Amino acid sequence: MEDDEDPPMLSSHTLAALHEFLSEQNRSLAAEAGDEPEDEVVLVSEDWRLSQFWYHRETAETVANEVLKLCSGSVARIACIACPTLYAYLKKISPNVAAQLLEYDHRFNQYGKEFTYYDYNQPEQVPQELKHAFDIVVADPPYLSKECLEKVAQTISFLASPERCSLLLLTGEVQRDRAAELLGLRPCVFRPQHSSKLGNEFRLFTNYDPGSRLGGWEPEK
Ligand SMILES: C[S@@+](CC[C@H](N)C(=O)[O-])C[C@H]1O[C@@H](n2cnc3c(N)ncnc32)[C@H](O)[C@@H]1O
Repeated sequence: MEDDEDPPMLSSHTLAALHEFLSEQNRSLAAEAGDEPEDEVVLVSEDWRLSQFWYHRETAETVANEVLKLCSGSVARIACIACPTLYAYLKKISPNVAAQLLEYDHRFNQYGKEFTYYDYNQPEQVPQELKHAFDIVVADPPYLSKECLEKVAQTISFLASPERCSLLLLTGEVQRDRAAELLGLRPCVFRPQHSSKLGNEFRLFTNYDPGSRLGGWEPEK
């Protein structure tokens, strides 16, 4: 028997569809009203079933500028693993930059040859020509589990140039020890922000000392 006093509940599927619908509607209304800032990067709407939480604009610009700073003076190849916003901002700021997006969501095949389908459950099912081909790898794994980070770390090692590769990992504070063990990463003072409020504390980890950029490496405890 149903209890009439229970609050009405929507399934996660219905909630995700509703969120997608409202985001699309807000975007068209803004575009109709001419409110869309000219230099705003327009992404597909977040699909929460795929753990999609896009970066806040300032975060996307800060990380993109950091990556471009690492490229300066050389022709670097950049792999963006599961971070489509970063890819989009990199291309907006520097259209000729050599960036490859590895993503599970097929909507991003709009980026043509710079999109590679990627499922972290098959960490090395990535085209052979991408093996050890990147000077900079940035990853934002979809989940905060040990298994997910271990598999993404496997992909990072597959993609990274063995000579020298700068790694940036955006993920929860809860992954701090694993990020250090698996990839030798340390957290920066800079805190990534998302357009939707998230309950988890997010961090940016790097395998190189950013100096005074990104607020520097957090002092060791
Ligand atoms: C936490 S979001 C990171 C997005 C990032 N904050 C941004 O704004 O670009 C995780 C990403 O993982 C992708 N993803 C979901 N399931 C995946 C899977 N099985 N394998 C690889 N990536 C997946 C999502 O599509 C999403 O882009």
